[in-house]
Amino acid sequence: MLYITGDTHNTTDMSNLASKNMKICCMEQQAEFKTISAAIVLGDFGLPWSDCPVDENGIHPTDRTDRYLLKWYNQKPFKILAVMGNHENYDMIEKLPAVEMFGGTVLKVSSNIFYLKRGEAYNIEEKNFLVLGGAKSEDKAFRVPHESWWVEEEWTETEKTHCLDVIRSCSGSFDYVLSHTGSSAGIACADSYYLNEENLLELKADPTVSFNDQIDSTISYKKWFFGHWHSDWGYENYKTGKYVPLYHMGIVL
Ligand SMILES: [Fe+2]
Repeated sequence: MLYITGDTHNTTDMSNLASKNMKICCMEQQAEFKTISAAIVLGDFGLPWSDCPVDENGIHPTDRTDRYLLKWYNQKPFKILAVMGNHENYDMIEKLPAVEMFGGTVLKVSSNIFYLKRGEAYNIEEKNFLVLGGAKSEDKAFRVPHESWWVEEEWTETEKTHCLDVIRSCSGSFDYVLSHTGSSAGIACADSYYLNEENLLELKADPTVSFNDQIDSTISYKKWFFGHWHSDWGYENYKTGKYVPLYHMGIVL
């Protein structure tokens, strides 16, 4: 089984992947915690946050917090798969070794932690996923480039073109979509502020949201999971809804 949850922000929301929380969410869905083979974090995973040496085995943190978190995750009995968010150290992500997994290429953080690349399709436990990612940091004016903000949080045109090629090669058909920020229709489920037409137009002007909207109107899928908005919508909505905004809650697939 797969477990999908929202932003963990390095250690700040690491409790999303605490066994106690995961077991509560599993229980709500009549699922067995023991059967989880991988936990997916919908961006803002934030490990590593500080620069550190990297080799073919992954990262070797020198920062105390990163070292502590890596050790905690490495003891988990499942893989951790991170979607790329806006609060990621992209200078480090660039250096991570690429390994073949799930019918594609993932980036290795450690023996059981991997980043899923944005704009790629993966087959995980017999399910087809389209993985997107990224978002615009609203507070970037207060952040320091290469320390707490990275320009790579938003897609380049080359990445977008590659993603559209991947979608075409899959005939636009997927079981699930994983992203950091959502499409505008999805975000409106998480935040009623965007039910207002004027506010919605403002949201649609965001380049990452606009690209997600373009994809949303092109492909077929069962459910679209996303983080970024730090909002859970509730199991009742998740059963019937197409969009699944997640923060602390977890969904078992
Ligand atoms: Fe976040």
